[in-house]
Amino acid sequence: MQQKAFYLETFGCQMNVVDSERIVDLLEGIGYAQVDAADQADLVLLNTCSVREKAERKVYGHLGRFKPIKDQRPELIIGVGGCVAQQEGEKMLETVPYLDLVFGIHNVHRLPELVLQAEEKHLRGTATEFLDRETRLNLFPQRSVRDNVTRFVTVMQGCDNFCSYCIVPHVRGREVSRPSREIVAEIEGLVAQGVREVTLLGQNVNSYGLKEEGEISFARLLHKVDQVAGLERLRFATSHPKDMTDELIDCFGQLDKLCKHIHLPVQSGSDRILKLMNRGYTANDYLRKVERLKTVCPQLRLTTDIIVGFPGETEEDFQATLAMVEKVRYADAFTFLYSPRTGTAAAELNDDQSSVQKQERFERLCAQQNRNSEEAWQADLGEVLPVLVEGESKQGDGQIFGRTTWNRIVNFAGDKELIGKIVPVRIAKVFRNSNLGELP
Ligand code: 5AD
Ligand code: SF4
Repeated sequence: MQQKAFYLETFGCQMNVVDSERIVDLLEGIGYAQVDAADQADLVLLNTCSVREKAERKVYGHLGRFKPIKDQRPELIIGVGGCVAQQEGEKMLETVPYLDLVFGIHNVHRLPELVLQAEEKHLRGTATEFLDRETRLNLFPQRSVRDNVTRFVTVMQGCDNFCSYCIVPHVRGREVSRPSREIVAEIEGLVAQGVREVTLLGQNVNSYGLKEEGEISFARLLHKVDQVAGLERLRFATSHPKDMTDELIDCFGQLDKLCKHIHLPVQSGSDRILKLMNRGYTANDYLRKVERLKTVCPQLRLTTDIIVGFPGETEEDFQATLAMVEKVRYADAFTFLYSPRTGTAAAELNDDQSSVQKQERFERLCAQQNRNSEEAWQADLGEVLPVLVEGESKQGDGQIFGRTTWNRIVNFAGDKELIGKIVPVRIAKVFRNSNLGELP
């Protein structure tokens, strides 16, 4: 039988990256091989993100690119998964007449069935129903290892926080945590296959286990994973400040394998806006946690997410965000202009700020943060830092690449034999998104 080809594009967060790895496994299971150009494929798939309007619009733009290919080859199957698929469901088939299948967040496992149905019967299909807890726990993604040095391991899915601006709880459904013994067993298996670093993943890992009877806390889970023999490094994402316990903070002073980096989204520095956002903490609560983090682990670097232009944000509110950025001195920040999402509470709020004003604030914040980032990364210049080598560099030239404990990419000339090892590398040049290093 001739092998069929699929092309897959992934947008959005790390949860989608994990789902895409599962998609690759499932499609290989029904005789497909992955290719990197849509015009060579029999099946093209988009795994989509709807966190901001721009991301959502992109999906339709991308689908448009596939239309001429389908006009030439009507047997081409086109599918959409992820958050936009979950949100729009069957409607997408109406809006996009050349689309064949739509699969939602809880239905990745049904993709082979939908593809075979499109292939054999030329039927268009949708699978977007939410599943119950038990079924979801049985379907937690386990993916095959392909020479990976680092892996994401999903520990929980969904989100119950309902931050007022956020679509995620609406499209990803309620929180479920996977049993800790399964997580540890998966990591032991990954390490046996050569994985050296894991990132424990969830929309809100700090609330891991809180809703499961008899389950250990996220901090205890970190302790258990830290003890897995052969594992070199441990990270986690993403954290919600409100559930960041002292027990968890103290892990940064106790666990050797835990990297000295935390992504701790603050969203705003104004108590009034934080309340409207339903974040469940004040600027002071947040700062107290940051202080404790820096006390238990002085080398720790923080990164964050910030939203500018939330409905009703005044200059005073914005100044409080700038003050937060100055106090914490983030090594990096992902800054977003607020984007109203239909169905969320914030979309109903009165918004009297002009887009020009929002843009101007956004640029002020970026300028300030860029100065801080530059300062943080320049501090590494000339230093010799331990780097876990992950693979061949995208830069080519026979370079390899890895990351520092702060999750900063370092490209350097070195032997491929070093892949999977932690090696000391001198930082020779600092760029915006990566460093150039050299073996000392
Ligand atoms: N508008 C702008 N940014 C948003 N985020 C989530 N929802 C929105 C929205 N409606 C940002 C938050 C979150 C990150 C993943 O995306 O900062 O932490
Ligand atoms: Fe969205 Fe808030 Fe949940 Fe993060 S914690 S996914 S921002 S609702």
